[in-house]
Amino acid sequence: MKRTNMCADVTEKYLGQVVTVKGWVHKRRNLGQLIFISLRDHTGLVQIVINQNNENLFELAQNIHSEFVIEATGKVIARTDANINPEMITGKIEIQAEDLKILSQAQVPPFQILDEGVKEDLRLKYRYLDLRRPKLQKNLILRHKTAQSIREFLNENGFLEIETPVLTKSTPEGARDYLVPSRIHPGEFYALPQSPQLFKQLLMVSGFDRYYQIVKCFRDEDLRADRQPEFTQVDMELSFMDIDDIISINESLLKKVFKDILNMEIETPFMRLTYKQAMERFGSDKPDLRFEMELKNISDIIKDSSFEIFNNAIKNGGSVRAINVKNINFSRRQIDSLIEFAKNYKAKSLITIAINSDGSFKTSLTKFLDEEQLNEIALRMHAEPNDFIFICADESNKIVFDALGNLRCHIAKKFNLIDSNLYKFLWVTEFPMFEWSAEDNRYFAMHHPFTAPMDEDVYLLDSQPDKVRAKAYDIVLNGFELGGGSLRIYQQDLQKKIFDLLSLSENDINERFGFLLEAFKYGVPPHGGLAYGFDRLVMLLLGDDYIRDVIAFPKVKDASCPLTNAPSLVYKEQLDELGIKISEDNNND
Ligand code: AMO
Repeated sequence: MKRTNMCADVTEKYLGQVVTVKGWVHKRRNLGQLIFISLRDHTGLVQIVINQNNENLFELAQNIHSEFVIEATGKVIARTDANINPEMITGKIEIQAEDLKILSQAQVPPFQILDEGVKEDLRLKYRYLDLRRPKLQKNLILRHKTAQSIREFLNENGFLEIETPVLTKSTPEGARDYLVPSRIHPGEFYALPQSPQLFKQLLMVSGFDRYYQIVKCFRDEDLRADRQPEFTQVDMELSFMDIDDIISINESLLKKVFKDILNMEIETPFMRLTYKQAMERFGSDKPDLRFEMELKNISDIIKDSSFEIFNNAIKNGGSVRAINVKNINFSRRQIDSLIEFAKNYKAKSLITIAINSDGSFKTSLTKFLDEEQLNEIALRMHAEPNDFIFICADESNKIVFDALGNLRCHIAKKFNLIDSNLYKFLWVTEFPMFEWSAEDNRYFAMHHPFTAPMDEDVYLLDSQPDKVRAKAYDIVLNGFELGGGSLRIYQQDLQKKIFDLLSLSENDINERFGFLLEAFKYGVPPHGGLAYGFDRLVMLLLGDDYIRDVIAFPKVKDASCPLTNAPSLVYKEQLDELGIKISEDNNND
């Protein structure tokens, strides 16, 4: 029989009609004279009823169990008032079976499909069963709709979807490459793209004006709750645009996506902060703006105190900063655990000031600061009775920002200070061009080496590279880096200079990026772009904070796939063909 309807389609509008549905047995209940089968497909559930009077069918139905795949044909009838289920779209009707067929039997699955408490390892090993769960079905459907909404917008706005190679040369985005050995060129390797960065720039050189791609990227880096080794970007590049143009197009894109997917009007333009402002106010370049608790610099107030920790921090180029938590009466244990938390970010310790209900202070600082200084701190922190101030001092501003920025988010989560219905977008701009790595004794590009410096800072490239700001911007949503982009360098000499500053040798530059520098000889439009983490976008649309929930077949923490057991050993002949020998130390045979 041909399927006439999806399960959740069969509502009261089909009353009296004969329909055929197909799907998985969600549940079977035997009530003696009647057997009820709840049938499931990706649209939802419908109830099938088999009457004892229909002997053959009734016998067959007795042998049908959970997760069997069946087809059922029958008349749509109204449920009795007592049996109406207002929770279900199809809750007013049921299908009175006239014909039933088992299409595929099912063993008892390793876990109950609807059991929410199953360990993730087991769920990922049987991901195809896990994906039957309505929650994951909903997530992947929403992912699909989000991709469609994005494509619609970009197609309507002059963007062309163009594919770029997967077997390619390394594009440095700050992670390790996944390498693919070449059989035809023994000893040589392709790199899987960390992003299509260089190809999209070359497409601008070719004159395509606006490019996009929803594309897999590969980065061999430590996994986190919002990070996968292979993930998807919505990648775009545009010619003849300035930063405001690109920001404005992307605000319109996000406006449409949030309208289409959540039916939510988001307000544009989004707030903007420079990197410096974001760090000073929130201790992070991806601040969560759904709650306050802003950092304040109190170095000037305490700079003449006799407290060594404060003095040393300031004397050695650092600072003393604080956050104020409003109206929470922390226990001693909670305070200790928050101080321990800050130590994860290299803070040596935190000093606290509790504002008692009568406005007096409870703090060890009374030994070093007078009442007036404490009052001044309270004023700076907008502190009121029952508030609680955490102070961090360090000779490294990075440590102060990191510790307080993360503490701010940790407290907000732990003490439920976040309104989860809010979506707070933010552009962070004017990132530093370079980051100094003491370990490697050289500069690294903070975005990537193709990002243009701000015109007014170019003169600093030779003398003070660490002061140069980039024409780079990140889009941040609720404390997550949703995407990042920049205007690019399009002059051969400037690009070469940046490579030099990154301590790449002439040889390295030619070997790795010679083709880009060559392309820059043949007429390059000024261009720039942006890439979103598509998985992250879907995750945030779902109000989730776990990236694996929006990826059909994700990897686990050690970058392996529990379903296929990838990565795995390969046959010796395959290695021989590639001219590869596994060293004894790594051979698991
Ligand atoms: P960037 O490296 O900032 O920029 O990446 C863009 C966005 O991709 C997402 N992302 C990830 N998502 C999941 N797992 C990961 N491992 C992961 N790594 C990155 C983030 C990030 O903001 N070529 C540039 C873009 C450009 O300049 O146009 C680039 O790739 O959401």
